[in-house]
Amino acid sequence: MIFGRVKPLDAILATAEKRGLERTLGAFQLTMLGIGAVIGTGIFVLTSEAAQKAGPGMMISFVIAGFVCAVAALCYSELASMVPVAGSAYTYTYAVMGELLAWMVGWALILEYAVGASAVAVGWSGYVVGQLRNLLGIDIPMEWVNGPSAGGYVNLPAMIITVLVTWLLVVGTTESARVNAVLVAIKVAALTLFIVLSIPMMNVENFQPFMPTGMVGVAGAAASIFFAYVGFDAVSTAAEETKNPQRNVPIGLIASLLFCTIFYILVSAGAIGSPLGAQPVRDAAGTLLAPGSSEIAARCQALVAGGALEPLPCSREALAHVLRTFGWVKIGNLIGLAATLALPSVVLMMMFGQTRVFFTMARDGLLPDKLASVHPRYKTPHVVTVVTGIAATIAAAFLPVGKLADYSNSGTLFAFFMVAISVLVLRKVDPTRHRPFRTPAIWIVAPLAIVGCLYLYFSLPLIAILVLPVWGALGLLIYFGYSRRRSYVGRGIIDVVDDPAMQPEIAKPLD
Ligand code: ALA
Repeated sequence: MIFGRVKPLDAILATAEKRGLERTLGAFQLTMLGIGAVIGTGIFVLTSEAAQKAGPGMMISFVIAGFVCAVAALCYSELASMVPVAGSAYTYTYAVMGELLAWMVGWALILEYAVGASAVAVGWSGYVVGQLRNLLGIDIPMEWVNGPSAGGYVNLPAMIITVLVTWLLVVGTTESARVNAVLVAIKVAALTLFIVLSIPMMNVENFQPFMPTGMVGVAGAAASIFFAYVGFDAVSTAAEETKNPQRNVPIGLIASLLFCTIFYILVSAGAIGSPLGAQPVRDAAGTLLAPGSSEIAARCQALVAGGALEPLPCSREALAHVLRTFGWVKIGNLIGLAATLALPSVVLMMMFGQTRVFFTMARDGLLPDKLASVHPRYKTPHVVTVVTGIAATIAAAFLPVGKLADYSNSGTLFAFFMVAISVLVLRKVDPTRHRPFRTPAIWIVAPLAIVGCLYLYFSLPLIAILVLPVWGALGLLIYFGYSRRRSYVGRGIIDVVDDPAMQPEIAKPLD
């Protein structure tokens, strides 16, 4: 039953051909799209969480997470070049493993995109609060920038940004290539400045002890910091809008990932070598404190009140804070400003990605048509956008950034895992099909991606590990209660929906 209801590859390709989106993106734009979607809260904020989990060993965590993403990206590339249509991992799984597993992947992608968007919004909130304090002297009370788990009510700035992004998406804003290029330039300039200033000042003694929490800590940090790489799959989601996708999608995926990995390793080295160091915060008895907990928040407050520099794991605006402690207050603020300006675009891309996946699932009949209905004036899938926006706003209001990132990672790792399996299955069942991009050493690379995803998944905190099966069970209830009966493939309708009303306008970029 699992492999039943496979959507024939040829039908997917024919549908995309017939109802396809305009192909406008080249390799360079795709790489920019990838970098634009990847650099965000992970490096700007979660560096603190990684330090709390692994200390200086977080450098190894960045390498592990980057490696798993690289092998997963190679698998993505083969499928993305063969199936250059919207829907990403969901579409590939549909073509290879059948509807049930595709549904599960689509369902898990909600964690990746919608919950991921909330994580980035909460990360942004840390920077905007720091900017208001440092530049304008405005102090927002802690209760209004923290959810209940960190002793507050709600995270108001994070809620505001998700509502704003939802509104932008409803009225039809997608990021134009030009706006994306400017934001990528801002982010890359900020990280370059950070590296150029911090690396020469590095104190090598700070690298000892290198792994204060052992390999378990390093693996835990890798599982969390994996979030810093999420988004490269946005490149494959754009395959349907890409010129010569067979060549350009793999280039875009791999180039953006390589670029980010190198930057992340250098940035983490700079942060570790700073006067703050990167040793984890412990309570008075020497016990390690959990990131995002009220205990660590209280301990951090006590340390600062006692006159100590705020340790790296306590900071909500890690990179800006590091530069300030070197004495470069203005440059630190500038880095903060860069993050404040650029992170909302990552929220926008993740929410946009979510609407695309929902849209593709609705196009296959697995979700109600109504959900994909298009606004008469704005020509956007407004219902699905508002639903996504409400969910992301609620999550951003109550949960800390690290937890959101971990939940998002559990869904993303499942999707990557399925893609790696799909690419192997397709090599077996359809070996002669033309593969414009062939994953090199597939029988090594795909198993490495599979094992890597499992390793990171089981290195997540227990609650994040449990999120996936619980979320999956809910998804199964919906699938068997609703979607299975409604599926177009299940009803024998393969090339579906020619109604242009089902197709939202793709881009009305605001320059
Ligand atoms: N990789 C993206 C970020 O770190 C999701 O914000």
